[in-house]
Amino acid sequence: MDLKQEINRRRTFAIISHPDAGKTTLTEKLLLYGGAIQTAGSVKGKATAKHAVSDWMELEKQRGISITSSVMQFEYDGYCINILDTPGHQDFSEDTYRTLMAADSVVMVIDAAKGIEPQTRKLFKVTAMRHIPIFTFINKLDRDARDPFELLDQLEKEFGIGTYPVNWPIGSGVDFKGVFDRDRRQIMTFNEFHRGQDKLKAIECDITDTEKLDELIGEYSRRDLVDQIELLDGASFDFDIDQVRCGKLTPVFFGSALTNFGVEPFLENFLKMTTAPLARSTKEGEVIPESENFSAFVFKIQANMNKAHRDRMTFMRICSGKFERDKEYYHVQGGRSLRLSQPQQLMADNRQIVNEAYAGDIIGVFDPGIFSIGDTICEAKHKVEFEGIPTFAPEHFAVIEHKDSLKRKQFVKGVEQIAQEGAIQIFHEPNTGMERVIVGVVGVLQFEVLEHRLKNEYNVDVIRSNMPYQFIRWIGNDGIDVAKLNLTSDTKWVQDFKGNNLLIFTSEWNINWALEKNDGLILEDFSKN
Ligand code: G4P
Repeated sequence: MDLKQEINRRRTFAIISHPDAGKTTLTEKLLLYGGAIQTAGSVKGKATAKHAVSDWMELEKQRGISITSSVMQFEYDGYCINILDTPGHQDFSEDTYRTLMAADSVVMVIDAAKGIEPQTRKLFKVTAMRHIPIFTFINKLDRDARDPFELLDQLEKEFGIGTYPVNWPIGSGVDFKGVFDRDRRQIMTFNEFHRGQDKLKAIECDITDTEKLDELIGEYSRRDLVDQIELLDGASFDFDIDQVRCGKLTPVFFGSALTNFGVEPFLENFLKMTTAPLARSTKEGEVIPESENFSAFVFKIQANMNKAHRDRMTFMRICSGKFERDKEYYHVQGGRSLRLSQPQQLMADNRQIVNEAYAGDIIGVFDPGIFSIGDTICEAKHKVEFEGIPTFAPEHFAVIEHKDSLKRKQFVKGVEQIAQEGAIQIFHEPNTGMERVIVGVVGVLQFEVLEHRLKNEYNVDVIRSNMPYQFIRWIGNDGIDVAKLNLTSDTKWVQDFKGNNLLIFTSEWNINWALEKNDGLILEDFSKN
């Protein structure tokens, strides 16, 4: 297979959902179809997950999930599929956003009885920023579900996107009889005994075959179905692949991941409708995946994946060309050449060394601490630099100091490394060093992660003093004399470790004050680097 064919058969997507909607179950079923795992339950240790009682445990669980199943690759029907797992916890939206940067499309799993849940909302918002295709899998139809029209209506109204149901459920819960395939105009009946891992042997029946339909799903369900399909055909959006490709129309699938119903049709349609690896923007212009020149960017750094080895793994998305193990590449931000000698691909809880990988694939490499989120790795002869992944504005701030001054070195190293991984952002007051670090986080749980990791991984105890600030803005004016700005007394001037000037505020009112009282002041709420 040549380079172009290898790349064109790749499909790289992320799965998002509110916890418990069925993301893991659906992932498992997809892996089963691909023959990548033999039994359900391999993706995450349910037994341990169940005992999660506190937020802290929840966090450990989150880390556990991303450790074992960050990226999963499998083959299906000639396609090479990469699934990216996303953390479900609300304090990890930024992590999710970075993972989405590595994906070419997104699958959103929704519990049919619950509809859109808080975390679905948050994740959707982050997803929509990417303008990539979004597919919806409405799960758990084997349980009592909400009216499907109501579910579509909710998606359209809350998310402002069009919906295109690819199939339509016939009843739900004990009355779940199957789905109607709108393209084939046939029904596929649900048989409870398909529980488990076999492929479903569908009984197909044309919707005009009244006699057979009555036999299969009963007259009552048949009448209902015919009425609903008539309504749907008249009222729903037309299918438009261009609208799907830019994330404005979401193809919707109904099914039941647990009973393995609707998963295969979902996979088949999804593979046809979604895109092969997309071109990416760099400072030098667009890089197309089929380019002969290898390029990749770092979207995730995971420390201490294996506690025994204290290793740190950097995940990169290959954007163009072919990656070859042991070949010399160039790390743009580090300004030097390097060899990635033990590139890994993860499969459920296995890691495996890869000798080659293509645009669309994700590889993990052991990192001695040289990479940061957003870094580019490419060919030395064809240097490009991907546009950085924007940093989310932190909403919580605290001063962190080490308790024991003898531990200063470890403290600085720990704080810097954790910041490099993107878990926290660090700042300081102008003209002060690393004794008192101001830490900004998007979710408060990150403070606990920081304290826990500094203690466990760097053996440093810290004192945390929470600060009242809630908003941060990067000052966009070059060379401005910040000390001369007219600011409220509860606005604070800080710098990041690249020397950029920022202001932290306790309220939006104070931001407006700063803008009103300082003519020409530019305040930006995303970091560009
Ligand atoms: P998540 O990754 O989105 O958090 O969800 P997960 O797949 O872990 O599923 C959450 C619960 O919902 C699990 O039950 C799972 O079995 C169940 N589930 C998933 N899909 C379906 C479905 O289509 N129908 C029904 N009825 N249930 C479904 P659990 O009791 O928490 O775990 P387990 O003991 O079943 O493994």
